[in-house]
Amino acid sequence: MKYIFLLTLSISLIACNNHNKDYEALKGKVDSLENKLADAYKPGFGELMTSVQAHHAKLWFAGKNQNWKLADFEIHEINEVLENIKKYQSERKESKSIDMITPAIDSVKTAVKNKNLQYFNKSYISLTDACNRCHKLTDFEFNIVKIPDKQSFSNQDFKIE
Ligand code: HEC
Repeated sequence: MKYIFLLTLSISLIACNNHNKDYEALKGKVDSLENKLADAYKPGFGELMTSVQAHHAKLWFAGKNQNWKLADFEIHEINEVLENIKKYQSERKESKSIDMITPAIDSVKTAVKNKNLQYFNKSYISLTDACNRCHKLTDFEFNIVKIPDKQSFSNQDFKIE
């Protein structure tokens, strides 16, 4: 009886010890993952906006040249960056206002789909106004966006044959 008791006791001690080891190993893994996450690269709001700015400019020259495929692509890129702002900058209160630009983007999308240059020009002005409206709303009114007057991406061809 005494032996059985001692055996049970030592088995449970070994089991407990193993549990502790498992726990320590798991904790080590969680800690190292937490450290990796803390060091993970996260794009900044301004960085993402600079990307929106580039696609906004490219969209203009694509539309001007009636390169509708490229224009459609640029709209897609703008939407992708805006989604990334919501994803990576969710803690910034300004991110809640991102969707105010959706109707303006949709109008440009319709113009591009219908290959309508006149409507493209009009909707692009509204899109640019929407950018600035959000900048005002979020107290970044000094970031003024305008229709580009010069194609600054000299390494990209916006014309189609
Ligand atoms: C949430 C509403 C919102 C919308 C919509 C928006 N922006 Fe912004 N934008 C911001 C905020 C906030 C900042 C400042 C980011 C920061 O803290 O660095 C900014 C900054 C910028 C900057 C300055 C980046 C720099 O570092 O110089 C540019 C350029 C810009 N936005 C372009 C645009 C364009 C183009 C559009 C429209 C296609 C647009 N934004 C739409 C909120 C918005």
